[in-house]
Amino acid sequence: MKCNNITYHSGKVTEQDRFKVLGQKGVVVWLTGLSGSGKSTIAVEVEKILNSIGKAVYRLDGDNIRFGLNSDLGFTEEDRMENIRRISEVCALFQDAGLIVIASFISPMAKMRHMAREKSKGKFIEVYVKTNVETCIKRDPKGLYKKALVGEIKEFTGISAPYEEPENPDITLDTESSTLNECVEQLVKKILTVTTL
Ligand SMILES: Nc1ncnc2c1ncn2[C@@H]1O[C@H](COP(=O)(O)OP(=O)(O)OP(=O)(O)O)[C@@H](O)[C@H]1O
Ligand SMILES: [Mg+2]
Repeated sequence: MKCNNITYHSGKVTEQDRFKVLGQKGVVVWLTGLSGSGKSTIAVEVEKILNSIGKAVYRLDGDNIRFGLNSDLGFTEEDRMENIRRISEVCALFQDAGLIVIASFISPMAKMRHMAREKSKGKFIEVYVKTNVETCIKRDPKGLYKKALVGEIKEFTGISAPYEEPENPDITLDTESSTLNECVEQLVKKILTVTTL
């Protein structure tokens, strides 16, 4: 905190009041997993289904946020933490507003996911998009592994930077044993049980 003379100013509308207007509870759905594991692909489909059945849903995606809010950040551990800190704050605000927030971020360290969960006061579903690194290398949808493997990209998760597997995720989507549709269906079901008023 860089400022001292600030006081929190409470409103008269509660989270419950906002939820009532939207007819749903807000939640942060946090997809973690290696690059190429399927986070964005699953998030896009889940968002489409939830929107089509009248849910207030919004998607936040790693690369997209780096074009704007976090365009000043790189991929050092410090910058990755700051990236996740800002995103966690945005997620918490959107959740408090009553939205279903679908956040797709590699978020390789357990402490990052922990921070995101804390900021949204536990109204949080940790989704482990589980795909082994060999499969991600084969998929390589952005051509990033190719570059990382020859050292053109430094600090690449799974190759030259660590990924800490979630120990206790709320749901695991195994993209090797399940199809995209199956993963999407599982996640939509979970979200609906948590957000129904
Ligand atoms: N069951 C599945 N679920 C999701 N994606 C799958 C599945 N099977 C194959 N894929 C493919 O895997 C790739 C996943 O790429 P995607 O961009 O979604 O990964 P990502 O986790 O968002 O990576 P990044 O962290 O780099 O953004 C896509 O090409 C997708 O078609
Ligand atoms: Mg992605």
